[in-house]
Amino acid sequence: CGIIGYIGDRKACEVIVRGLKRLEYRGYDSVGVVTEEDGKLYIKKGAGKIDEVVERLNLLDMPGKRGAGHTRWATHGVPNDINAHPQKDCTGKIALVHNGIIENFAELKKELLEKGHAFESDTDTEVIAHLIEEELKSSGSFEEALRKALLRLKGSFALGVIYTEEPDRIYFVRNESPLVLGIGEGENFGASDVPAFLEYTNRVVFLDDMEYAIVTKDSWVVKKLETGEEVEKEVQTVEWTLEMAEKGGFPHFMLKEIFEQPRVLRDAIHGNAEIIRDVAREIANYDKIFIVAMGTSYHAGLVGKYLLQRLAKKVPFVEDASEFRYEFEDLVDEDSLVIAITQSGETADTLAAMKLAKKKGAKVLAIVNVVGSMATRIADLTLYTHAGPEIGVAATKTYTTQLAVLTMLAIELARVLGTADEEYLKGLEESLREVPDLVEGSILNLSEPLRELAESLKDREDFFYIGRGIGLPTALEGALKLKEISYIHAEGLSAGELKHGPLALIEDGVPVVAIAPNGKTFDKMVSNIEEAKARGAYVISIGSSEKLREVSDTFIKMPNVDEVLSPIPYVVPLQLLAYHLAVLRGNDPDKPRNLAKSVTVE
Ligand code: G6P
Repeated sequence: CGIIGYIGDRKACEVIVRGLKRLEYRGYDSVGVVTEEDGKLYIKKGAGKIDEVVERLNLLDMPGKRGAGHTRWATHGVPNDINAHPQKDCTGKIALVHNGIIENFAELKKELLEKGHAFESDTDTEVIAHLIEEELKSSGSFEEALRKALLRLKGSFALGVIYTEEPDRIYFVRNESPLVLGIGEGENFGASDVPAFLEYTNRVVFLDDMEYAIVTKDSWVVKKLETGEEVEKEVQTVEWTLEMAEKGGFPHFMLKEIFEQPRVLRDAIHGNAEIIRDVAREIANYDKIFIVAMGTSYHAGLVGKYLLQRLAKKVPFVEDASEFRYEFEDLVDEDSLVIAITQSGETADTLAAMKLAKKKGAKVLAIVNVVGSMATRIADLTLYTHAGPEIGVAATKTYTTQLAVLTMLAIELARVLGTADEEYLKGLEESLREVPDLVEGSILNLSEPLRELAESLKDREDFFYIGRGIGLPTALEGALKLKEISYIHAEGLSAGELKHGPLALIEDGVPVVAIAPNGKTFDKMVSNIEEAKARGAYVISIGSSEKLREVSDTFIKMPNVDEVLSPIPYVVPLQLLAYHLAVLRGNDPDKPRNLAKSVTVE
């Protein structure tokens, strides 16, 4: 989602609508604006694309010189007029726009319902407005109530908050969702991203997690949410063009999306923390399990298979959806569980497989990124990946978030079924929560070295990616990324298969990328690396054991994580390698030739 807030002398709705258009790439299923004049709030909101909603609801005709707006990418509650932001409290004095996910919203909502609050929407956002209203009853000031309320939230939030009784200000808050202030002359802004206000000012102040700002037209101050203490902040000047700013200062959306992974992984984890238990219970008794998907989502499905095998002791069939439809027609029945994985929720083959499964009476669980998409309407149960819109055609952040959701599901299933030791599962959960930080560290450390590596490999015409066990889907995904955007021929295969044919293709300098996390098959991987090297391969190994440094030409050091968590951090260097190779070969990684983001034909 994207948010923007304004206070100054201009007509607020105009500034906000222009800002929202600049943020459209962050989400576009519904739009809303709140403005305030003479102590009265004006709210207009609705489902649809920005231009449509602006026209339909006349968003450019709203009074007031302060206000906030929102372009939504739904997380809780389908995209419709009521669930669109802004949301408000019972008194109608507090209105807010929110980007992020509140993990404990169900619990808070229950508590507020018991206290007599009435809710209009299904959103987690509305809960925040009511919580502030509730805290206001026992607080000395609005600011104190805001702090107290926000300290009770678990999850991620960037907020713009307006309170009618304080006409001179807007509050902006940040925790694990981006928020930046724009500092103008006699006017100020706050937004999820710089492009929202870049045409008015390029002087910015970035908030950090658990900070809030009080912004008037002539002043701003940033404070700590925890204590209310003031924080010193520097005003920075951004030199980006608008186009660069939309990409967050990155040259391509794909790179921006790779770098977004730590944040969206956190969202995926927060966003599913509560619901995963219920879903696991509902599917625990199925033994006949099919996982269906296409492309990168299919690779996530393969990781899902290993996770379910290792943790929940279930043996799913993973099928490319276009094959499943014909081959499994007679085998899927009411005792079957079909797990469909699809970023867009609109891939024709995946939808057809899901419909077939429904027709045969199977239970269908969808793992989807786009809220309200067709797949969510067909499925009995849906888990969302919370990755936000992905613009680059090659999937990156939507893949790693699919993996996070599958990992959570496998852990919870193992718990329900008692197939793994509780201590171990707890440890895994804790480590999963640390994975976003590990990914953050890896991306920052590896992007430049991988660019240099790409420089030396950019004229190669064949790559091989090898892995074993849970590392195998990572090899397949690495090869797919390379094919998609760099147009280099690449094969991903099980390392054991190497000597059964592909080894014949290895000659001097052929790059072989080996996925070698510590675990069951590490020693075997080392033997395969040696085999390839003996034939002249240029071996790039990815793992955490220093032993790999000795046997490889290039060693990409990964943090040491449990093997079942390795698919998430390990794919990141492969995404970066493919990206840099594509750019060095003069391709546009965001728009690879012949490919589409969403394939809606069979
Ligand atoms: C297309 C995209 C891929 C994607 C696949 C499945 O081929 O280019 O990136 O993995 O479709 O899409 P889905 O939306 O179902 O995950």
